[in-house]
Amino acid sequence: MSNVKAQSPSSARRVRKAVLPAAGLGTRFLPATKAQPKEMLPVVDKPLIQYVAEECVASGIEHIIIVTGKGKNAIEDHFDLAPSLERFLEEKGKKDQAEMVRRISNMVRVSYTRQKEPLGLGHAVLVARDLVGDEPFAVLLGDVIIPGNRPATKQLVEVYEATGIGAIAVEQVPREKTHLYGVVDGEPKPQAPWGQRLLRIRDLVEKPKPGKAPSNLAITGRYVLPPDIFDCLARTKPGSGNEIQLTDALRILAKERGLWALIYEGISYDAGDKLGFLKATVEIALQNPELGAEFRKYLKSLDL
Ligand code: UTP
Repeated sequence: MSNVKAQSPSSARRVRKAVLPAAGLGTRFLPATKAQPKEMLPVVDKPLIQYVAEECVASGIEHIIIVTGKGKNAIEDHFDLAPSLERFLEEKGKKDQAEMVRRISNMVRVSYTRQKEPLGLGHAVLVARDLVGDEPFAVLLGDVIIPGNRPATKQLVEVYEATGIGAIAVEQVPREKTHLYGVVDGEPKPQAPWGQRLLRIRDLVEKPKPGKAPSNLAITGRYVLPPDIFDCLARTKPGSGNEIQLTDALRILAKERGLWALIYEGISYDAGDKLGFLKATVEIALQNPELGAEFRKYLKSLDL
């Protein structure tokens, strides 16, 4: 399989849909998440889930399926039309803002399904089964943002469309932090154009005990999967934290169908975690064309 990217994807391999699980309780971010979804927390001026939806659009996704739960209505409102707000802005002469508000509801087709109880990330993906149907799809965690011009999801879509095998994004983390992540045991299978960044997964472990991690390659929150994952999920029993874990279903998929790990190009922020959220806010604010220069000056002025 040399230079597999040269092949053009058959229609069965085209990745058109994405599932965004957003039904978790966000307990790491209490009290901010007591009455509002963590996916709606703003980083600079956009809610987390909008960054994720924009990554989908930039990756060629045509249909986003958001898995919501209790107390998550603000997510639906955010992607809906807001005619009275648009009218108000237009009447005040704020055409650009009216246009920006309109663009959010027009950017992509969005459907919703509900996870009645937060039984785990794997379970959240499984409830999207009917909306996905029998085709490959991406999964993007609603609280992980990966800014940059080269969307991680697009990098995974390229691997899937070229090989027909599912791919998950991984990144190197310090050894002493592996117990916080799903970690892969992978065998390098270098091939163009990915070179050493592409590994065939032998196994995966969710939150390995200290010293037991098979590598320092952690799962980042971006996946492109074949529809076979649904059968794997249906066979998956509750695991770590008594939740139905996507990682456990991926172990089955890796054994039965194969699965790639791609050390993607980019940096992720787990913005569902307070420190990750702060890092994302600072980095994205520094890159903001309106605020960046002033904010940089301010940070430099702090006597740290
Ligand atoms: P997290 O583990 O980060 O979310 O799941 P959480 O459970 O909300 O967070 P904490 O640990 O209590 O702070 C990653 C993503 O999967 C979704 C979450 O909404 C988040 O976007 N998720 C998780 C579900 O949709 N359903 C679940 O049962 C669990």
